[in-house]
Amino acid sequence: MLIRTGRDGLTHPQSSEITPLGIYQQRRDLIRWMAGGAAGAGLASWASRQALAQAARPGKLAALSATKSAVPGAMTMEKLTDYKDASTYNNYYEFGTDKADPAQYAHTLKTQPWTVEVDGLVKKPAKYAIEDLVKLSAQEERVYRMRCVEGWSMVIPWVGYSMAKLIAMVEPLGNAKYVEFHTLADRKTMPGVGSSVLDWPYVEGLRMDEAMHPLTLLAFGMYGEVLPNQNGAPVRLVSPWKYGFKSAKSLVRIRFTEAPPRTAWNKAAANEYGFFSNVNPNVDHPRWSQATERRIGEDGLFAKKRKTLMFNGYEAQVGQLYAGMDLKKFY
Ligand code: MTE
Repeated sequence: MLIRTGRDGLTHPQSSEITPLGIYQQRRDLIRWMAGGAAGAGLASWASRQALAQAARPGKLAALSATKSAVPGAMTMEKLTDYKDASTYNNYYEFGTDKADPAQYAHTLKTQPWTVEVDGLVKKPAKYAIEDLVKLSAQEERVYRMRCVEGWSMVIPWVGYSMAKLIAMVEPLGNAKYVEFHTLADRKTMPGVGSSVLDWPYVEGLRMDEAMHPLTLLAFGMYGEVLPNQNGAPVRLVSPWKYGFKSAKSLVRIRFTEAPPRTAWNKAAANEYGFFSNVNPNVDHPRWSQATERRIGEDGLFAKKRKTLMFNGYEAQVGQLYAGMDLKKFY
């Protein structure tokens, strides 16, 4: 549906139980907030909706318990996107290019056994079974705004821990400047891998300081449960100040390199997808304005678009990483 042949002839996109503790704390914060005088019908309904969205084990998958993150900026109070939208309106090209394809076809993805290889310029390369990787650090709940370059956004309660925790385990060498993320490309179980829409496997990359930033999440779950296949099970990257395509799904390899990784989208159309891909309302994609966005779930006939925020609203936390850089040139 949303693949189009561009000017250059290339195809690219057009675009539980949440942890009882997590809920308990969130409710407690709300009650405190309400008791502080901010109570109102709107707030109360927001609160019950938040709690409902998370408490109902919406995907009926295995619960993944977590505690609320203390990382600055990690818990936006914005209304959560409905689980149904978050798990049926997806980009996962290995399963097709229509937004509905991943939910329909990703049941073929086999997430067990699963290993993630961590190698390249590190002192302690390792191959982690997914069961061990999950346990490497305490799971946190993080509620992130997610902005897709196609102009839509969602608010997702993720479960995972900072990528920095894994990076510390493998001890990068001094010349490791970038981190490359490889995702599964299995022709047998992923019908889209036979297509030429991208050069498989899907590869993404971050600069070392971006990968080390506490907001950069290695996610194993969402809405208090393990990830549904279509959202990148069993483990994915989540980088909330960058466009959604940086958040690579179903990771199988994390490699430390000296040179900037050649990412799948950059290879497909370098003029459209730069290495950084930071959310920036002032730099338009050649085919789409990035100034505003449509929040999924707010798309009634008269729904107003929202203004897109610099670094997707995470400027206070990440702006310093790009101090002095020309963000029009390094898009
Ligand atoms: N990861 C893989 N392996 N394959 C993909 O096609 N799509 C990306 C990103 N990660 C993609 C991927 C894009 S374009 C977006 S917008 C987000 O995943 C979508 O994540 P979501 O479906 O969980 O919202």
